[in-house]
Amino acid sequence: MIFFKSPVSNTSSSLIRIATAAFYAVVSLSAQADEQAKHPRAAKATTHMVSAAHPLAAEAGLAILESGGSAMDAAVAVQAMLTLVEPESSGIGGGAFLLYWDGEDKQLTTYDGRETAPASANNEYFYRDGKPLSWPAARTGGLSVGVPGTVKLLETAHQQHGRLNWARLFIPTINVARDGFTINDKLARSISRAADSGLRDFDQTRQYFFAEDGTPKTAGTRLVNQDLADTLTLIAAHGADGFYNGTIAESIVEAVTNAANPGQLTTKDLADYEVKERDPVCFDYRDFSVCGMGPPTSGGLTMGQMLGILNQFDLSTGPSVANWHHYIEAAKLAYADRALYMADADFVDMPAGLLNTGYLRDRASLIDPDVATQQASAGTPPWDEVRLQSPDTQTEKPGTSHFVIADKYGNRLSMTTTIESGFGSRVMTRGFLLNNELTDFSFKHENDGKPIANRVEGGKRPRSSMSPTIVFKNEKPYLLTGSPGGSRIINYVTQSVIAVLDWQMDLQDAADMGHIVNRNGTTDLEAGTEAEELDAELKALGHETNIRELNSGLHMILIENNTLYGAADPRRAGVALGR
Ligand code: GLY
Repeated sequence: MIFFKSPVSNTSSSLIRIATAAFYAVVSLSAQADEQAKHPRAAKATTHMVSAAHPLAAEAGLAILESGGSAMDAAVAVQAMLTLVEPESSGIGGGAFLLYWDGEDKQLTTYDGRETAPASANNEYFYRDGKPLSWPAARTGGLSVGVPGTVKLLETAHQQHGRLNWARLFIPTINVARDGFTINDKLARSISRAADSGLRDFDQTRQYFFAEDGTPKTAGTRLVNQDLADTLTLIAAHGADGFYNGTIAESIVEAVTNAANPGQLTTKDLADYEVKERDPVCFDYRDFSVCGMGPPTSGGLTMGQMLGILNQFDLSTGPSVANWHHYIEAAKLAYADRALYMADADFVDMPAGLLNTGYLRDRASLIDPDVATQQASAGTPPWDEVRLQSPDTQTEKPGTSHFVIADKYGNRLSMTTTIESGFGSRVMTRGFLLNNELTDFSFKHENDGKPIANRVEGGKRPRSSMSPTIVFKNEKPYLLTGSPGGSRIINYVTQSVIAVLDWQMDLQDAADMGHIVNRNGTTDLEAGTEAEELDAELKALGHETNIRELNSGLHMILIENNTLYGAADPRRAGVALGR
């Protein structure tokens, strides 16, 4: 049995003075030389490890672990660095979910730092002239910005699990922001792709990501971010209070309300922001216990449904067409329930029986081994209160990051962090981008008079797909996993679990594996991978397929026989580092 910490109320932040001693040891990578030679992104270690989406972020986390920090200390440093060097994906202007296993107390705590709608928002927040806005029209500008949660989440979890001084954890990023870092291929590609979808439309964003002649900055260009260095210096000195109150909060509100397509955030919305400790979503799969994040993300529950359905079948024969067929059908069934039932449970009632074993057995019996369903309907899980609801078809876009950390004290951490789509709302203030997380709500609030669970409401958190996961074996953390990828995240992370537990794949091979994704419609097969080769056989079973690029970002650590194995997704720029 896994032990969970009961949610407790948050304590207010204390003022913390920034450490004056310079701190930043760039970790020599020589210790990883052997593993790097075998695979440039993988690592094997005995004491501690970080796997994150940018080498500078992994190095910042590793340096903290090397100086005696906990996984939580390292997470603060990793997130600060990601804000700077992977600004298109996550940052202090966004939100996150965190799973933390305390190696001493043997307890799992899950933290919800999801962005929140302004208190004044109502069901028709994304309506104009009586009709819902188009997605791009809603995304760009201040309207889509929710109250950021990441800084408060980091502070809350750090107060409970940190060992090092908070201020010290920002020094690596402050130094790199002042000195500059080099734009990598991924960031350059992202700037170029977003150039004509609003990225040029906001002064600070344009000045930062574009050259004076208006062309997107390219790989190899040095980027200095003094504004972010100043913002992080304030947060380092004053904690989350320095972000949610005072000049930074005022700058956020000003940027949101003065932007084209203005939003309604107020300084009170920021000052009122709360991180919530939630009950983890845990379920059995084979001989393992899989734990994930509960609502407002649909990640843990939808993964639980997929794996609960697949638990009825033997997949151990490997990634065969028959096993992928069962996988795809399970995904359709689970995504159908997700669309109808899942949203912020503080605002909508959800069926208690979404992970009920009997219910999932019944759902599994709907799978025909020889014929694909075109689209699954939601089921009727055990639920004592019947409400008529309508499915939500909103999909989240893939601008997100995931990292995992293991420290020498036995603490284990899995965190998915986002500003929603690449470059979020496009609005930048004080050196960081603001999220567009409110577009994760359903813009429509009802269909034919039936309310949509994920409709906008004041103070509500938009439904997410983020799926930070810890798999336990014999009650000990065994696999830390998670990924970006919008509403495909659930598929990517579930596949990583199946690849490791059922197919016993090497961890890096599991990260490299070609993806097959279904969200209750067409099946995506990842172009240029072994997944593409299954096209004809899946079509023969009746699957409608689409071969396309898929952009996961799995970062994983596996712990076995006192050894840490790390992997990083080749589709992003990340690396696993350990000692
Ligand atoms: N914005 C991505 C997610 O929350 O799933």
